[in-house]
Amino acid sequence: MHWDKMPVVSRLYPGAVAVFIPENRYMKVFINKIIPEEGLNLLREAGVEITMWQEERLLSREEVIKFCLDHDAFLNVSQKGVDADFFRQCSHLKVMALHSVGFDNVDVSAATRWKVPVGNTPGVLNRATAEIALLLMLTVSRKALYMHKKIAQGGWGISQPTQDLGIDLVGKTLGIVGLGRIGAELGRICKHALHMNIIYYNRGTNPEAENELGAVKVPFDELLAQSDVVSVHTALTPETKGMFGTEEFRKMKNSAIFINTARGAVHREAELTQALEQGLIWGVGLDVTDPEPMSKTNPLLSMENAVVFPHIGSSTTETRNAMSRLAAENIIAGLQGKRIPYPVNPEVYD
Ligand code: DGY
Repeated sequence: MHWDKMPVVSRLYPGAVAVFIPENRYMKVFINKIIPEEGLNLLREAGVEITMWQEERLLSREEVIKFCLDHDAFLNVSQKGVDADFFRQCSHLKVMALHSVGFDNVDVSAATRWKVPVGNTPGVLNRATAEIALLLMLTVSRKALYMHKKIAQGGWGISQPTQDLGIDLVGKTLGIVGLGRIGAELGRICKHALHMNIIYYNRGTNPEAENELGAVKVPFDELLAQSDVVSVHTALTPETKGMFGTEEFRKMKNSAIFINTARGAVHREAELTQALEQGLIWGVGLDVTDPEPMSKTNPLLSMENAVVFPHIGSSTTETRNAMSRLAAENIIAGLQGKRIPYPVNPEVYD
């Protein structure tokens, strides 16, 4: 397709008073996927010109760079390959706002070296993501998705009292790996709704969660050994990449459920599948996979005690609206030459 013919929309809010018009033009932001109107409206009201890619096709990294070269800011919806070379080519960007709380898809230190402030959307997706972890816990523990598929295949049959049994969660132990905002929210729900005991493994301690939830910090191996459910909420870093493999699954109870709503690369998927097949653990619930998207032939998709969602932790209207607002606030502040409200590289201002 010829470059000029690419289907984008470029709109300027008609009544907008442009707060910032250097070189006699509006500031321009490029958005690589469709974001909610709430965020777009904030941008329009601030007089920012928007180019938003609307086609059901992912842009390549090179295409994104080409768009960025013609814009002052980039609102980045999970674009991969935003590495040192990206920032070298796009060092003119006044700001990059992520439409996510996670920022493992961006080389943040390169952004800082090239003096590009990068912002994320913290806080607003805690509840939605914690609810997805809870949904996975419940769905796996009661084999709910498997039972649904069984009916659809005409397999309701005669139900025996010993057949297709799940596992109770009430009063059991939840081991949270990465007790930050989302992990603490899950702890809160599980403490109050299911009377679960909360243990956690973290680099630092979380005194608020300890006070509020009676959460106890334990060494990693102890968490693996004691937990009935292990739920992962850690960021993807070189330290957490591949943190869960055969060795770790072996240390877990064989009645345990493994939940990951953080990043797929924190577990080793082939080893996880094998652990479930071999009965090292009882169940698996994933909202994140490695790679994404998961192949439709992945064995986890047809296993009785496995449930996989397509990375929908933040997919509610309210949460996505809030994320778009925070991303727009980062863009507007960056274009106005102000400190962005939610920086992941505050050192860029040093
Ligand atoms: C986040 O915000 O990091 C979610 O995982 C969506 O990518």
